[in-house]
Order: sequence, then C-alpha cells, then structure tokens
Amino acid sequence: MKITFLGHASFLIEIEETKIIVDPFITPNPLAEDINISALNADYILVTHAHEDHIADVEKIAKLSDAVVVSNFEIVSYFEKLGVSGHPMNHGGTWEFDFGKVTYTNAVHSSSFPDGSYGGNPGGFLIEGEHKVIYIAGDTALTMDMKLIPLKAKLDVAILPVGDNFTMGVDDAIIASDFIECSKIIGCHFDTFGYIEIDHEAAIKKFYDKDKDLMLLKIGEQIQL
Ligand code: NI
Ligand code: MN
Repeated sequence: MKITFLGHASFLIEIEETKIIVDPFITPNPLAEDINISALNADYILVTHAHEDHIADVEKIAKLSDAVVVSNFEIVSYFEKLGVSGHPMNHGGTWEFDFGKVTYTNAVHSSSFPDGSYGGNPGGFLIEGEHKVIYIAGDTALTMDMKLIPLKAKLDVAILPVGDNFTMGVDDAIIASDFIECSKIIGCHFDTFGYIEIDHEAAIKKFYDKDKDLMLLKIGEQIQL
C-alpha cells in the first residue's frame, strides 16, 4: 500500500493496481499546484463529508477517470445526479470492494454542501488492503468512538487532522492516537488556510515526547507501508 499526500486532506492511496483518491481539494489549493488531476487516473474517490475543502475536485476527477465515488448516501446521491457513479454507505457499514474492505466510521463535525444543501453526516474510513489497515479520521473532533477502532482492526497507520480550529488539533490528535492504538500518524488538514497553520517542529516534538511518530508529508510526498 502506498500513500501520497496531495495537500490539505487529500491523499492518493494505491492498493496494488487500484488508485483511490480521498477528499480531493487540489485545483483550488495554491499549495498543491504541482499536482495534475488529469494524471491521477483514479478508480475510486472516497469522500468523508460534503465541505468544499473535501469535494472540490470530485466531479472533475470522477469524470476524467470514470471513478466511483464512495461516501455516505447523501453525498453519493448528490454526485449521481451530476452523472457520476457511486457506492453509497453509512456509518458502521463495511463493504468488500475489489481492492479490499472499507468501513465508513463516525466523525464529529458537520457536512453541508457549498450551496448549503444537506450532505448527510460526516465520517471517516477504515481501509483494509494488501494485509494493511489504515484509518482516515476525516474532519473530526476527538471522539470516544475512536476507541471502537482498535476493537475492529490493528492499524498500520492513521491519518488524523491536526490543524485545530475546524477539527482536533495536535494535543487531541495525540489522545486520538492512544484511543485508536496507533502511534504512526500522518497529519492532515493543516496550513491550507490561516486558521489552521501549525508549527511543524513543535507538533512533531509533542508526538515524539509521547513515543509517537507524526509525519507531516510534503505535497507529493509518498510513503510505502
Ligand atoms: Ni469539514
Ligand atoms: Mn475540512
């Protein structure tokens, strides 16, 4: 399994030949101008919730590469009306895809579309493939529901928001890392806008002091599990 950071909360996850894009917000993100969305060739697009900074490029990428949108029922219905194919899920549900297993998990946040229409309830994803399991929390507060994750899966890595203000920040992400029983964390949802700028060195040191590893990947940077 390969994970590439595409900026903000956007990632490319490669499981064998399958390319999965998570929460594409690339063309409006000036920090991600080196990422060419027409070269992504996505098979699936996983969407945690309906906010603009998670769905901006869903329709474009889906139509460019004929990708299937996987999200909650409301978000999938929204994109199906735009001519995109989708796989609807809801919280607690698991589906066996051709690349592996996906569970739509709880998140504490909101989920309206940019036009104010209802985007269902926000979530995250547990993704299992190539004998690896990753947890993508989505935009969320620290929540007791995270304690359910290790009852279901032993994580290899987790992607947690660390930018604060709209989601949990670094201190709560450290507690979340305890709850999910995973010390290898990839941070997301930081630095894109003024409210969520973080001090990288200080954040990494806070994790390090708790014997945890916070990775703040550069845009385009990839890790292999
Ligand atoms: Ni959000
Ligand atoms: Mn967001």
